[in-house]
Amino acid sequence: MTPGGTLSAVSCRGLAKEFPGNPAPAVDDVSFDVEHGELLVLLGPSGCGKTTTLRMIAGLEEPDAGEVWLGSGLVSSAQRNVFVPTEKRNIGMVFQSYAIWPHMTVFENVAYPLRVRRVSRKLIQERVGQTPELLGLAGLEERPATQLSGGQQQRVALARALVFEPRILLLDEPLSNLDAKLRVHMRSELKNLQQATGITSIFVTHDQAESMALADRIIVMNRGRIEQIGSPADVYQTPRSRFVNDFVGSMNALQGVVVDVDGSTVTLRCGEHEVRGHAASDQQLARGDAVTATMRPENLSILPESVSASTNQWTACVVGAVYYGDHREYQVEIGEQSVTLSAPASIDVPRGARVIVTCDPSEVVVIADSLA
Ligand SMILES: Nc1ncnc2c1ncn2[C@@H]1O[C@H](COP(=O)(O)OP(=O)(O)OP(=O)(O)O)[C@@H](O)[C@H]1O
Ligand SMILES: [Mg+2]
Repeated sequence: MTPGGTLSAVSCRGLAKEFPGNPAPAVDDVSFDVEHGELLVLLGPSGCGKTTTLRMIAGLEEPDAGEVWLGSGLVSSAQRNVFVPTEKRNIGMVFQSYAIWPHMTVFENVAYPLRVRRVSRKLIQERVGQTPELLGLAGLEERPATQLSGGQQQRVALARALVFEPRILLLDEPLSNLDAKLRVHMRSELKNLQQATGITSIFVTHDQAESMALADRIIVMNRGRIEQIGSPADVYQTPRSRFVNDFVGSMNALQGVVVDVDGSTVTLRCGEHEVRGHAASDQQLARGDAVTATMRPENLSILPESVSASTNQWTACVVGAVYYGDHREYQVEIGEQSVTLSAPASIDVPRGARVIVTCDPSEVVVIADSLA
């Protein structure tokens, strides 16, 4: 349920799944809602349970515990012994291996789900006629599927998933077989299509850049559990755990001990340096806690000289520098700890130089080591 009391498009409650022979559950007490028209991304490393979660929503896997609701319909409940089969859930699916039929033409591939549903020939012509248009496949209808490029095959898979107007679209790493450039292109096409059709979608990926580019909200998963649910900006800027911070974007970590807590402002001692930041959301920190101060490379800067009465200025030694054309990346040592920072290309500092490095306290997230 949303706060307004309307039903979500998809609701997963306490989903769990274990596979025999595996020491840990694949999915462990996973609960989340997907709102109508939303594009939700499940993000996490290999083996964290993304596909298993998606398959339970699709009805390709029976949960050991928990429930799946599609709108007001309960489609899966271990406890109540309910299991609506896949074909009755009205869900479109696209997988990594797009599994289009090689012996069929584009038209036949896209028409297939309609034929299975015994839709009339006239309506099939009409629907399939519209879908390739939408997906840039117009003119290719009679081409055998084997004579298509990777991107075109992926479009056919998408067309086939959308042609019967499912109420939900599930996508499991659909772009990972494409080369890097096409992948970025298809990503924005997919986003446009999802917005144009307004179809509620769940997209699985282990690629954090892809998740940021596509998602309305991201769920970060780790070892079968949800680590964090939030907008891309929430997850990126206010990671709840060390895991999320590590996984989403590159990050720096300075180990330290809390010396002062003032509201949400936390001060810690990292060797001889003092670092000020704010606690990650929902965390209570106290003096003496072992913590990690995390900050993004793009939020650190090199100052020409120290600015008086300003916090978070650390003397550092440049140990590495790489020129990327549009920016430079520096490796610097703050005390014994090494951090990466990205600077404008115009800031040219030699290796071995001593510099002042700074980071605004609002960009420093302090995470208790007990949560790592
Ligand atoms: N049919 C199965 N039988 C046994 N173990 C399985 C089965 N399916 C998944 N698992 C295990 O469950 C865990 C979660 O797998 P899942 O496929 O959901 O991960 P994933 O997050 O999709 O990973 P990837 O990014 O590699 O696709 C893994 O440890 C996996 O080995
Ligand atoms: Mg998977």
